[in-house]
Amino acid sequence: MKFYIETYGCQMNVSDSELVSGILLNAGWEQAFAIDDADLILFNTCSVRQHAEDRVLGRIANEKHRKMQNPELKIAVLGCMAQRVGKRLLEKDFGVDFVVGVDQYLQLPELLSQERGMETEFDHFQIYPGLKPVHGDQSCAFVTIMRGCDNFCSYCIVPHVRGRERSVDFEQIVEEVAKCGDNGMKDVTLLGQNVNSYRWGDYNFPRLLLELNKIDSIYRLRFVTSHPKDLSDGLVQAMADCDKVCEHIHLPLQSGSNPVLKAMNRKYTIEHYFGLVEKLRAAIPNISLTTDLIAGFPGETHADFELTLDAMREIRFDYAFCFKYSEREGTAACSFENQVPETERLSRLQEMIDLQREITLEKFSAQVGNEIEVYVESLSKKSVHQVSGKTRDYKIAVLDGDESDIGTLKKARVKSATAGTLIC
Ligand code: SAH
Ligand code: SF4
Ligand code: F3S
Repeated sequence: MKFYIETYGCQMNVSDSELVSGILLNAGWEQAFAIDDADLILFNTCSVRQHAEDRVLGRIANEKHRKMQNPELKIAVLGCMAQRVGKRLLEKDFGVDFVVGVDQYLQLPELLSQERGMETEFDHFQIYPGLKPVHGDQSCAFVTIMRGCDNFCSYCIVPHVRGRERSVDFEQIVEEVAKCGDNGMKDVTLLGQNVNSYRWGDYNFPRLLLELNKIDSIYRLRFVTSHPKDLSDGLVQAMADCDKVCEHIHLPLQSGSNPVLKAMNRKYTIEHYFGLVEKLRAAIPNISLTTDLIAGFPGETHADFELTLDAMREIRFDYAFCFKYSEREGTAACSFENQVPETERLSRLQEMIDLQREITLEKFSAQVGNEIEVYVESLSKKSVHQVSGKTRDYKIAVLDGDESDIGTLKKARVKSATAGTLIC
Protein backbone atom coordinates (compact mmCIF):
# COMPACT_ATOMS: atom_id res chain seq x y z
CA MET A 1 0.00 0.00 0.00
CA LYS A 2 1.33 3.39 -1.01
CA PHE A 3 0.84 6.83 0.54
CA TYR A 4 1.26 10.33 -0.86
CA ILE A 5 1.51 13.45 1.34
CA GLU A 6 0.71 16.98 0.28
CA THR A 7 1.89 19.63 2.74
CA TYR A 8 0.54 23.15 3.41
CA GLY A 9 1.51 25.88 5.86
CA CYS A 10 4.76 26.53 7.64
CA GLN A 11 8.02 24.59 7.94
CA MET A 12 6.68 22.91 11.08
CA ASN A 13 4.22 21.10 8.85
CA VAL A 14 6.95 20.18 6.36
CA SER A 15 8.87 18.69 9.25
CA ASP A 16 5.76 16.89 10.56
CA SER A 17 5.15 15.39 7.11
CA GLU A 18 8.66 13.91 7.27
CA LEU A 19 7.81 12.50 10.69
CA VAL A 20 4.57 11.00 9.37
CA SER A 21 6.45 9.46 6.41
CA GLY A 22 8.81 7.84 8.92
CA ILE A 23 5.90 6.46 10.96
CA LEU A 24 4.14 5.03 7.89
CA LEU A 25 7.31 3.53 6.38
CA ASN A 26 8.03 1.83 9.73
CA ALA A 27 4.53 0.40 9.65
CA GLY A 28 5.12 -1.19 6.23
CA TRP A 29 3.64 1.45 3.92
CA GLU A 30 5.51 2.56 0.80
CA GLN A 31 5.88 6.12 -0.44
CA ALA A 32 4.16 6.85 -3.78
CA PHE A 33 6.09 9.15 -6.08
CA ALA A 34 2.97 10.43 -7.80
CA ILE A 35 -0.53 11.02 -6.51
CA ASP A 36 -1.85 8.66 -9.22
CA ASP A 37 -0.11 5.70 -7.57
CA ALA A 38 -1.43 6.36 -4.07
CA ASP A 39 -3.81 4.19 -2.05
CA LEU A 40 -3.82 6.85 0.62
CA ILE A 41 -3.61 10.62 0.11
CA LEU A 42 -2.72 12.64 3.19
CA PHE A 43 -3.23 16.41 3.31
CA ASN A 44 -1.16 18.05 6.04
CA THR A 45 -3.05 21.29 6.54
CA CYS A 46 -2.71 24.87 7.82
CA SER A 47 -5.29 27.04 9.61
CA VAL A 48 -3.38 30.27 10.06
CA ARG A 49 -5.55 32.27 7.68
CA GLN A 50 -8.94 31.45 6.15
CA HIS A 51 -7.36 31.39 2.70
CA ALA A 52 -5.07 28.52 3.77
CA GLU A 53 -8.06 26.39 4.77
CA ASP A 54 -10.05 27.24 1.64
CA ARG A 55 -7.16 26.13 -0.56
CA VAL A 56 -6.97 22.70 1.04
CA LEU A 57 -10.72 22.17 0.88
CA GLY A 58 -10.47 23.01 -2.81
CA ARG A 59 -7.65 20.48 -3.29
CA ILE A 60 -9.60 17.72 -1.52
CA ALA A 61 -12.68 18.47 -3.62
CA ASN A 62 -10.47 18.13 -6.71
CA GLU A 63 -9.03 14.78 -5.70
CA LYS A 64 -12.02 12.99 -4.22
CA HIS A 65 -13.30 11.99 -7.70
CA ARG A 66 -10.41 9.48 -7.73
CA LYS A 67 -12.48 7.39 -5.33
CA MET A 68 -14.87 6.53 -8.17
CA GLN A 69 -12.11 4.80 -10.14
CA ASN A 70 -10.46 3.38 -7.03
CA PRO A 71 -12.99 2.61 -4.28
CA GLU A 72 -10.15 1.51 -2.00
CA LEU A 73 -8.56 4.96 -2.05
CA LYS A 74 -8.57 6.77 1.31
CA ILE A 75 -8.12 10.46 2.06
CA ALA A 76 -6.73 11.69 5.39
CA VAL A 77 -6.55 15.23 6.75
CA LEU A 78 -3.70 15.89 9.16
CA GLY A 79 -2.32 18.98 10.85
CA CYS A 80 -3.72 22.25 12.10
CA MET A 81 -7.01 22.21 10.21
CA ALA A 82 -7.69 18.62 11.31
CA GLN A 83 -7.20 19.89 14.83
CA ARG A 84 -9.40 22.95 14.38
CA VAL A 85 -12.26 21.60 12.27
CA GLY A 86 -12.20 18.03 13.63
CA LYS A 87 -15.20 15.84 13.03
CA ARG A 88 -17.00 18.34 10.80
CA LEU A 89 -14.51 17.19 8.15
CA LEU A 90 -15.90 13.65 8.43
CA GLU A 91 -19.55 14.62 8.67
CA LYS A 92 -19.97 16.64 5.53
CA ASP A 93 -19.50 15.18 2.11
CA PHE A 94 -15.86 16.21 1.86
CA GLY A 95 -14.69 12.72 0.87
CA VAL A 96 -12.43 12.58 3.94
CA ASP A 97 -11.93 9.21 5.68
CA PHE A 98 -9.48 10.07 8.45
CA VAL A 99 -8.84 13.15 10.56
CA VAL A 100 -5.65 13.15 12.62
CA GLY A 101 -4.44 15.97 14.88
CA VAL A 102 -0.88 17.16 15.44
CA ASP A 103 -0.17 15.12 18.60
CA GLN A 104 -1.69 11.84 17.34
CA TYR A 105 0.54 10.81 14.46
CA LEU A 106 1.74 7.70 16.30
CA GLN A 107 -1.86 6.42 16.11
CA LEU A 108 -1.89 6.64 12.30
CA PRO A 109 -0.99 3.03 11.42
CA GLU A 110 -3.67 1.64 13.70
CA LEU A 111 -6.27 4.16 12.65
CA LEU A 112 -5.61 3.44 8.96
CA SER A 113 -6.44 -0.22 9.48
CA GLN A 114 -10.03 0.87 10.11
CA GLU A 115 -12.63 2.08 7.59
CA ARG A 116 -12.82 5.67 8.85
CA GLY A 117 -11.78 7.43 11.99
CA MET A 118 -10.49 10.40 13.88
CA GLU A 119 -7.85 11.11 16.56
CA THR A 120 -7.51 14.75 17.59
CA GLU A 121 -6.79 14.65 21.31
CA PHE A 122 -4.00 16.96 22.44
CA ASP A 123 -1.11 15.28 24.19
CA HIS A 124 0.82 18.14 25.77
CA PHE A 125 3.86 15.92 26.34
CA GLN A 126 4.14 14.51 22.83
CA ILE A 127 7.52 15.34 21.28
CA TYR A 128 7.79 12.17 19.16
CA PRO A 129 10.93 10.96 20.93
CA GLY A 130 13.42 8.76 19.13
CA LEU A 131 11.59 8.86 15.80
CA LYS A 132 13.58 9.15 12.61
CA PRO A 133 11.98 11.65 10.25
CA VAL A 134 12.50 11.02 6.53
CA HIS A 135 14.31 14.07 5.19
CA GLY A 136 13.98 13.08 1.54
CA ASP A 137 16.78 13.95 -0.83
CA GLN A 138 17.00 17.67 -0.12
CA SER A 139 20.23 19.47 0.63
CA CYS A 140 18.71 21.49 3.50
CA ALA A 141 17.18 20.00 6.64
CA PHE A 142 14.54 21.29 9.05
CA VAL A 143 14.73 19.98 12.59
CA THR A 144 11.89 20.57 15.04
CA ILE A 145 13.21 21.62 18.45
CA MET A 146 9.92 22.53 20.05
CA ARG A 147 6.23 22.04 19.50
CA GLY A 148 3.23 24.19 20.38
CA CYS A 149 2.97 27.80 21.53
CA ASP A 150 1.91 29.49 24.78
CA ASN A 151 1.91 33.08 23.59
CA PHE A 152 -1.69 33.51 22.50
CA CYS A 153 -1.19 36.52 20.27
CA SER A 154 -4.78 37.66 20.01
CA TYR A 155 -5.08 37.13 16.23
CA CYS A 156 -3.43 33.72 16.09
CA ILE A 157 -4.92 30.24 15.85
CA VAL A 158 -1.60 28.42 16.34
CA PRO A 159 -1.77 27.96 20.16
CA HIS A 160 -5.31 26.63 19.71
CA VAL A 161 -4.34 24.03 17.11
CA ARG A 162 -0.80 23.16 18.17
CA GLY A 163 -1.32 22.95 21.93
CA ARG A 164 1.07 23.92 24.70
CA GLU A 165 4.73 24.69 24.25
CA ARG A 166 7.16 21.81 24.86
CA SER A 167 10.80 21.32 23.94
CA VAL A 168 12.48 18.32 22.33
CA ASP A 169 15.21 16.41 24.18
CA PHE A 170 18.56 18.19 23.83
CA GLU A 171 20.48 14.99 23.02
CA GLN A 172 17.92 13.98 20.41
CA ILE A 173 18.38 17.32 18.61
CA VAL A 174 22.17 17.06 18.66
CA GLU A 175 21.96 13.53 17.25
CA GLU A 176 19.44 14.53 14.57
CA VAL A 177 21.48 17.54 13.38
CA ALA A 178 24.66 15.44 13.20
CA LYS A 179 22.79 12.82 11.20
CA CYS A 180 21.54 15.47 8.76
CA GLY A 181 25.12 16.61 8.19
CA ASP A 182 26.32 13.03 7.70
CA ASN A 183 23.59 12.53 5.09
CA GLY A 184 24.63 15.54 3.02
CA MET A 185 22.24 18.13 4.45
CA LYS A 186 24.76 20.76 5.46
CA ASP A 187 22.32 23.62 5.97
CA VAL A 188 20.11 22.97 9.00
CA THR A 189 17.21 25.11 10.20
CA LEU A 190 15.92 24.64 13.74
CA LEU A 191 12.15 24.97 13.99
CA GLY A 192 9.67 26.09 16.60
CA GLN A 193 6.92 28.72 16.97
CA ASN A 194 9.13 30.50 19.48
CA VAL A 195 12.61 28.96 19.52
CA ASN A 196 13.93 31.59 21.97
CA SER A 197 12.04 29.95 24.81
CA TYR A 198 13.56 26.50 24.15
CA ARG A 199 14.33 24.78 27.44
CA TRP A 200 15.47 21.25 28.30
CA GLY A 201 16.58 20.90 31.90
CA ASP A 202 19.38 23.43 32.36
CA TYR A 203 19.82 23.97 28.63
CA ASN A 204 18.39 27.08 26.97
CA PHE A 205 18.44 28.11 23.31
CA PRO A 206 21.82 29.90 23.23
CA ARG A 207 23.35 26.82 24.87
CA LEU A 208 21.78 24.60 22.21
CA LEU A 209 23.31 26.76 19.45
CA LEU A 210 26.75 26.60 21.07
CA GLU A 211 26.50 22.80 21.22
CA LEU A 212 25.25 22.38 17.63
CA ASN A 213 27.97 24.73 16.39
CA LYS A 214 30.51 22.02 17.33
CA ILE A 215 29.08 19.52 14.83
CA ASP A 216 31.68 19.20 12.06
CA SER A 217 29.42 17.64 9.44
CA ILE A 218 27.22 20.75 8.99
CA TYR A 219 28.17 24.08 7.40
CA ARG A 220 25.30 26.31 8.43
CA LEU A 221 22.72 26.72 11.17
CA ARG A 222 19.55 28.81 11.07
CA PHE A 223 16.45 29.02 13.22
CA VAL A 224 12.82 30.22 13.01
CA THR A 225 10.90 31.82 14.64
CA SER A 226 12.20 34.25 17.25
CA HIS A 227 9.79 36.24 19.40
CA PRO A 228 11.01 39.79 20.15
CA LYS A 229 9.93 39.51 23.78
CA ASP A 230 12.25 36.52 24.37
CA LEU A 231 15.31 37.49 22.35
CA SER A 232 17.99 37.64 25.04
CA ASP A 233 21.43 39.24 25.09
CA GLY A 234 22.73 35.69 25.52
CA LEU A 235 21.22 34.73 22.18
CA VAL A 236 22.68 37.76 20.38
CA GLN A 237 26.08 36.82 21.85
CA ALA A 238 25.71 33.15 20.85
CA MET A 239 24.80 34.18 17.29
CA ALA A 240 27.91 36.36 17.15
CA ASP A 241 30.13 33.62 18.63
CA CYS A 242 28.95 30.62 16.58
CA ASP A 243 30.59 30.61 13.15
CA LYS A 244 27.96 28.24 11.69
CA VAL A 245 25.01 30.37 12.77
CA CYS A 246 24.12 32.47 9.73
CA GLU A 247 23.90 36.27 9.70
CA HIS A 248 20.14 36.34 9.49
CA ILE A 249 17.23 36.52 11.89
CA HIS A 250 13.51 36.31 11.26
CA LEU A 251 11.97 38.55 13.89
CA PRO A 252 8.24 39.15 13.38
CA LEU A 253 7.29 42.74 14.21
CA GLN A 254 3.56 42.48 13.24
CA SER A 255 2.91 46.23 13.75
CA GLY A 256 4.80 49.47 14.37
CA SER A 257 2.13 50.93 16.67
CA ASN A 258 2.22 50.35 20.43
CA PRO A 259 -1.58 50.30 20.97
CA VAL A 260 -1.89 47.72 18.17
CA LEU A 261 0.98 45.62 19.58
CA LYS A 262 -0.78 45.72 22.94
CA ALA A 263 -4.11 44.64 21.45
CA MET A 264 -2.25 41.87 19.63
CA ASN A 265 -0.89 40.69 23.01
CA ARG A 266 2.66 40.77 21.66
CA LYS A 267 4.13 41.92 25.00
CA TYR A 268 6.77 44.31 23.59
CA THR A 269 6.81 47.90 22.39
CA ILE A 270 8.17 49.30 19.15
CA GLU A 271 10.96 50.94 21.21
CA HIS A 272 11.98 47.53 22.55
CA TYR A 273 12.03 46.19 19.00
CA PHE A 274 14.19 49.07 17.76
CA GLY A 275 16.56 48.34 20.66
CA LEU A 276 16.86 44.69 19.59
CA VAL A 277 17.63 45.69 16.00
CA GLU A 278 20.37 47.98 17.27
CA LYS A 279 21.90 45.24 19.43
CA LEU A 280 21.78 42.68 16.62
CA ARG A 281 23.35 45.06 14.12
CA ALA A 282 26.07 46.05 16.57
CA ALA A 283 26.99 42.43 17.43
CA ILE A 284 26.61 40.87 13.97
CA PRO A 285 27.72 43.17 11.15
CA ASN A 286 25.71 42.72 7.95
CA ILE A 287 23.02 40.68 9.67
CA SER A 288 19.94 40.50 7.50
CA LEU A 289 16.56 40.99 9.10
CA THR A 290 13.27 39.57 7.90
CA THR A 291 9.88 39.99 9.50
CA ASP A 292 6.13 39.33 9.44
CA LEU A 293 3.64 42.21 9.32
CA ILE A 294 -0.14 42.27 9.56
CA ALA A 295 -2.26 44.93 7.81
CA GLY A 296 -5.71 45.85 9.09
CA PHE A 297 -5.71 44.34 12.57
CA PRO A 298 -8.98 45.26 14.40
CA GLY A 299 -8.85 48.86 15.62
CA GLU A 300 -5.80 49.73 13.49
CA THR A 301 -6.28 53.39 12.53
CA HIS A 302 -4.65 54.96 9.54
CA ALA A 303 -2.21 56.64 11.93
CA ASP A 304 -1.30 53.22 13.43
CA PHE A 305 -0.74 51.85 9.96
CA GLU A 306 1.52 54.80 9.09
CA LEU A 307 3.65 53.89 12.13
CA THR A 308 4.17 50.42 10.67
CA LEU A 309 5.30 51.97 7.38
CA ASP A 310 7.61 54.30 9.35
CA ALA A 311 9.14 51.32 11.17
CA MET A 312 9.68 49.56 7.84
CA ARG A 313 11.46 52.64 6.47
CA GLU A 314 13.56 53.04 9.56
CA ILE A 315 14.60 49.40 10.02
CA ARG A 316 14.78 48.54 6.34
CA PHE A 317 14.09 44.81 6.52
CA ASP A 318 15.72 42.65 3.88
CA TYR A 319 12.36 41.03 3.36
CA ALA A 320 8.91 41.17 4.99
CA PHE A 321 6.09 38.65 4.79
CA CYS A 322 3.05 40.89 4.69
CA PHE A 323 -0.39 39.53 5.58
CA LYS A 324 -3.87 40.92 5.58
CA TYR A 325 -5.57 40.29 8.94
CA SER A 326 -7.83 37.24 8.79
CA GLU A 327 -10.42 36.53 11.51
CA ARG A 328 -9.90 33.16 13.16
CA GLU A 329 -12.86 31.79 15.08
CA GLY A 330 -11.96 31.17 18.71
CA THR A 331 -9.16 33.75 18.91
CA ALA A 332 -9.53 36.86 21.08
CA ALA A 333 -9.23 39.37 18.21
CA CYS A 334 -12.10 37.74 16.33
CA SER A 335 -14.56 39.27 18.80
CA PHE A 336 -12.90 42.70 18.93
CA GLU A 337 -15.05 45.56 17.77
CA ASN A 338 -13.70 47.94 15.12
CA GLN A 339 -12.87 45.28 12.57
CA VAL A 340 -11.22 47.05 9.62
CA PRO A 341 -13.25 46.76 6.39
CA GLU A 342 -11.89 44.23 3.90
CA THR A 343 -11.20 46.83 1.17
CA GLU A 344 -9.15 48.89 3.64
CA ARG A 345 -7.19 45.81 4.75
CA LEU A 346 -6.41 45.08 1.13
CA SER A 347 -5.25 48.59 0.26
CA ARG A 348 -3.03 48.77 3.36
CA LEU A 349 -1.57 45.38 2.50
CA GLN A 350 -0.78 46.56 -1.02
CA GLU A 351 0.90 49.69 0.29
CA MET A 352 3.07 47.59 2.60
CA ILE A 353 4.02 45.19 -0.18
CA ASP A 354 4.96 48.06 -2.51
CA LEU A 355 7.13 49.76 0.10
CA GLN A 356 8.89 46.52 1.05
CA ARG A 357 9.50 45.66 -2.58
CA GLU A 358 11.39 48.90 -3.04
CA ILE A 359 13.49 48.32 0.08
CA THR A 360 14.17 44.68 -0.81
CA LEU A 361 15.33 45.68 -4.28
CA GLU A 362 17.69 48.26 -2.76
CA LYS A 363 19.03 45.70 -0.28
CA PHE A 364 19.64 43.12 -3.02
CA SER A 365 21.12 45.70 -5.42
CA ALA A 366 23.55 46.87 -2.73
CA GLN A 367 25.22 43.46 -3.04
CA VAL A 368 26.13 43.87 -6.71
CA GLY A 369 29.91 43.57 -6.99
CA ASN A 370 30.26 41.66 -3.69
CA GLU A 371 31.77 38.21 -3.43
CA ILE A 372 29.23 35.90 -1.78
CA GLU A 373 29.26 32.36 -0.47
CA VAL A 374 26.35 30.25 -1.71
CA TYR A 375 25.20 26.89 -0.39
CA VAL A 376 23.99 25.20 -3.56
CA GLU A 377 20.57 23.58 -3.16
CA SER A 378 19.39 22.69 -6.67
CA LEU A 379 19.75 23.15 -10.39
CA SER A 380 18.40 26.50 -11.53
CA LYS A 381 14.93 26.33 -13.09
CA LYS A 382 16.00 28.39 -16.09
CA SER A 383 19.23 26.77 -17.25
CA VAL A 384 21.01 23.42 -16.87
CA HIS A 385 24.34 25.24 -16.60
CA GLN A 386 23.25 27.18 -13.55
CA VAL A 387 22.51 26.29 -9.97
CA SER A 388 20.65 28.06 -7.21
CA GLY A 389 21.09 28.29 -3.47
CA LYS A 390 21.24 30.72 -0.58
CA THR A 391 23.75 33.14 0.85
CA ARG A 392 24.45 33.11 4.57
CA ASP A 393 22.18 36.14 4.91
CA TYR A 394 19.27 34.21 3.40
CA LYS A 395 19.15 35.55 -0.12
CA ILE A 396 18.51 33.34 -3.12
CA ALA A 397 21.42 33.39 -5.57
CA VAL A 398 21.83 31.93 -9.06
CA LEU A 399 25.31 31.09 -10.34
CA ASP A 400 27.14 28.94 -12.90
CA GLY A 401 27.45 25.28 -11.94
CA ASP A 402 26.05 21.80 -12.37
CA GLU A 403 24.52 18.94 -10.41
CA SER A 404 27.81 18.04 -8.73
CA ASP A 405 27.73 21.40 -6.89
CA ILE A 406 24.53 20.56 -4.99
CA GLY A 407 25.23 20.34 -1.26
CA THR A 408 28.49 22.31 -1.50
CA LEU A 409 29.56 25.90 -0.77
CA LYS A 410 30.56 27.99 -3.79
CA LYS A 411 31.97 31.49 -3.98
CA ALA A 412 30.77 33.87 -6.69
CA ARG A 413 30.56 37.56 -7.51
CA VAL A 414 27.15 39.25 -7.80
CA LYS A 415 26.56 40.73 -11.27
CA SER A 416 23.00 41.99 -10.90
CA ALA A 417 19.98 41.72 -8.64
CA THR A 418 16.19 41.64 -8.61
CA ALA A 419 13.96 42.02 -5.54
CA GLY A 420 14.36 38.30 -4.85
CA THR A 421 17.48 36.96 -6.52
CA LEU A 422 21.18 37.74 -6.68
CA ILE A 423 22.50 36.85 -10.12
CA CYS A 424 26.17 35.87 -10.27
N1 SAH B 1 5.29 31.64 15.59
C1 SAH B 1 5.61 32.48 14.57
C2 SAH B 1 4.78 32.38 13.30
C3 SAH B 1 3.33 32.18 13.41
S1 SAH B 1 2.33 32.25 11.99
C4 SAH B 1 5.66 33.84 15.14
O1 SAH B 1 5.31 34.07 16.25
O2 SAH B 1 6.07 34.73 14.46
C5 SAH B 1 3.21 33.26 10.85
C6 SAH B 1 2.69 34.64 10.68
O3 SAH B 1 1.35 34.62 10.22
C7 SAH B 1 2.63 35.47 11.94
O4 SAH B 1 3.85 36.00 12.28
C8 SAH B 1 1.63 36.54 11.56
O5 SAH B 1 2.26 37.63 10.92
C9 SAH B 1 0.75 35.84 10.55
N2 SAH B 1 -0.60 35.57 11.09
C10 SAH B 1 -0.92 34.78 12.12
N3 SAH B 1 -2.25 34.81 12.34
C11 SAH B 1 -2.77 35.67 11.43
C12 SAH B 1 -4.10 36.13 11.14
N4 SAH B 1 -5.14 35.73 11.86
N5 SAH B 1 -4.25 36.99 10.11
C13 SAH B 1 -3.20 37.41 9.38
N6 SAH B 1 -1.94 37.01 9.61
C14 SAH B 1 -1.72 36.14 10.62
FE1 SF4 C 1 1.00 32.71 16.90
FE2 SF4 C 1 2.07 34.47 18.51
FE3 SF4 C 1 2.50 31.88 18.95
FE4 SF4 C 1 3.62 33.07 16.86
S1 SF4 C 1 4.01 33.53 19.02
S2 SF4 C 1 2.55 31.13 16.87
S3 SF4 C 1 2.09 34.56 16.24
S4 SF4 C 1 0.54 32.95 19.11
FE1 F3S D 1 -0.24 26.91 9.65
FE2 F3S D 1 -0.18 25.24 11.63
FE3 F3S D 1 2.05 26.29 10.71
S1 F3S D 1 -1.65 26.83 11.36
S2 F3S D 1 1.42 28.27 9.96
S3 F3S D 1 0.73 24.96 9.61
S4 F3S D 1 1.60 25.77 12.82
